[in-house]
Amino acid sequence: MKRLGLNIDHIATLRNARGEFHPDPFYAANFAHKQGVDSITIHLREDRRHIKDLDAKKICSIKNLLVNLEISIKDEIVKNALKIKPNFICIVPENRKEVTTEGGLNLHRNKNKIKSIIKLFKEKNIRTSLFVNPSLKDILISKNLGANCVEIHTGRFSNLIKSKKKVENELFRIKQCSKLAEKIGLEVHAGHGLDYQSTKILSKIDEIKEFNIGHFIIGESIFHGLNKVIKNFKKILR
Ligand code: PXP
Repeated sequence: MKRLGLNIDHIATLRNARGEFHPDPFYAANFAHKQGVDSITIHLREDRRHIKDLDAKKICSIKNLLVNLEISIKDEIVKNALKIKPNFICIVPENRKEVTTEGGLNLHRNKNKIKSIIKLFKEKNIRTSLFVNPSLKDILISKNLGANCVEIHTGRFSNLIKSKKKVENELFRIKQCSKLAEKIGLEVHAGHGLDYQSTKILSKIDEIKEFNIGHFIIGESIFHGLNKVIKNFKKILR
């Protein structure tokens, strides 16, 4: 059984649209945990456009819930993440103007910084993952930087599926990267833009152990309920 991580940033986006308290990401994390998700993902963005520091702190205090905190490499965010003490960290690129994380990390440009951040979290026994494009070179660099895991950016693959274009080349790249990562001792995760169809295809790749999905699950829940949508994904990942 592959693991399902639910990204609940969009619950916070909806709450923030009113500037009030509902819907509450803390309640959502508890609720989703009871429905059987394996972990909760939250992204503490530099501009705090959705998840706030207090949300992150409260969610990380939920007993027996595994929390995956996505962060950029900015010092202020890293410092806060160390205080928040999540179970897992996923380092992602961040660009103020983007609507969502647009691609994997530029590992070459930020090598030394990322290496030192990974070291900080590893010293605290926090599993650290790097969000990377499906590139063999980036998988090898991730290993050299000391990461425990790589999360392969599936945005391009998901978009090809949604626009009914040919996916063979991108699927091949994801498969090759997953194989190489596992071979050199990195756990493989996948995320971004995934829906039922793209998850079903990628779930056939043995090496991928964890899927982190947000926007589609939260959007689909409007029509079918969060419990039902989580159940559907768990069925796909069985
Ligand atoms: N994984 C990572 C590292 C991400 O940055 C995101 C988007 O915040 C996701 C997974 C989830 O993407 P989506 O909301 O498109 O499912």
